[in-house]
Amino acid sequence: MSEYILVTGGAGYIGSHTVVELINNGHKVVVVDNLVNSSYDSIARVEFIVKQSIPFFNIDLRDHDKLSEVFKAYKIKGVIHFAALKAVGESTKIPLDYYDNNVNGTISLLNVLKEHNVKTIVFSSSATVYGDVTRFGDDRYIPIPEECPLDPTNPYGRTKFVVEGILKDIHTSDPDNWKVAILRYFNPIGAHPSGLIGEDPLGIPNNLLPYLSQVAIGRRDKLSIFGNDYKSHDGTPIRDYIHVVDLAKGHIAALNYLHKLNESGLYREWNLGTGKGSTVFDIYHAFSKAVGKQLPYEVVGRRAGDVLDLTANPSRANKELGWKAELDIETACEDLWRWTTKNTHGFNVEGYSWKTFE
Ligand code: NAD
Ligand code: WQD
Repeated sequence: MSEYILVTGGAGYIGSHTVVELINNGHKVVVVDNLVNSSYDSIARVEFIVKQSIPFFNIDLRDHDKLSEVFKAYKIKGVIHFAALKAVGESTKIPLDYYDNNVNGTISLLNVLKEHNVKTIVFSSSATVYGDVTRFGDDRYIPIPEECPLDPTNPYGRTKFVVEGILKDIHTSDPDNWKVAILRYFNPIGAHPSGLIGEDPLGIPNNLLPYLSQVAIGRRDKLSIFGNDYKSHDGTPIRDYIHVVDLAKGHIAALNYLHKLNESGLYREWNLGTGKGSTVFDIYHAFSKAVGKQLPYEVVGRRAGDVLDLTANPSRANKELGWKAELDIETACEDLWRWTTKNTHGFNVEGYSWKTFE
């Protein structure tokens, strides 16, 4: 019987790119997603890219019995757990929904894993767990290493912090068997070079590049740049923007690392970032170049909660996982622009489907 990797949240932005890389690396994949923030069309397009069908189940992770059925039908050897709600602003308005979905969803998943004796899991955490690293009053945690103390500043970030703790406790309860990889992503951007899959936010985008791409195709008037009075080379905040394909490849590296452990368990965190910081204006210029024209913007006041610098120190992942981000922000912007122009209204628009690409 073939062994499968279960990908929760595999219809989403990072999950769909990771499914492509898993299959390109010879893995068999089952996807579980309740489509709360995605569309089945992304799976159909992934099937088109990898030229094979992918078992898909529309299941909420909190539905223990339905999830358990998937484990009865497929021999699962490990899980990559993306499924979560992820909007920082929304999480401050409906925190209980975030804890219920992200924490209870994970507990339900872990119960099913335990019942089926599957003890290998890669978890999507976030740089947001570090909080504001300028709180130390100096640069000792810039770029941010995994040892930096955690102090998330919003409910979304705290759900990631809580789940990291749960996974650590699970590992402690059976340290020889649980293999847990915590991957802390910095700022994922870009799209698959095919232009077939990418980020498709519902409503008004919160993140910089999705917003900018909607300005570029005329769905929004102009970009608001949230403050130019930070201590950076051009006054705008610094982030570590990582191409989503590089990020996806980091999951394959983590999974391979866990599988090579053979008989011993592990709990370990790895930052997935490039180690290179870019400002908002750096991104603005790179994307304008990809589009071929300067896009309209205005500088407005700072956004509450934003900090000066969130750049990764990725050396642990570079050394231990043998993984390194290879693609630059220019490539990410070109790939994003290709995805945007091919899909001006994202996935699942009536009369316009992945079949258009056949
Ligand atoms: P996404 O919203 O595109 O993907 C998440 C997927 O999970 C969606 O397809 C959604 O439908 C599904 N899902 C949510 N709750 C579920 C549930 N209870 N049961 C089943 N499916 C459920 O988000 P993404 O950007 O691909 O993020 C993937 C993961 O990476 C998330 O855990 C997110 O918190 C984390 N992360 C994302 C970023 C980022 O900027 N995109 C940064 C750091 C960490
Ligand atoms: C990037 C920069 C803004 C929009 C968020 C989450 C984090 C993680 C990744 C999940 C900032 C500026 C943005 C705009 C702007 N997600 N900006 N105008 O805030 O670094 O991180 O996504 O785990 O948890 O907080 O990303 O893309 O929102 O902002 O000027 O319209 O762009 O001020 O400096 P952020 P972002």
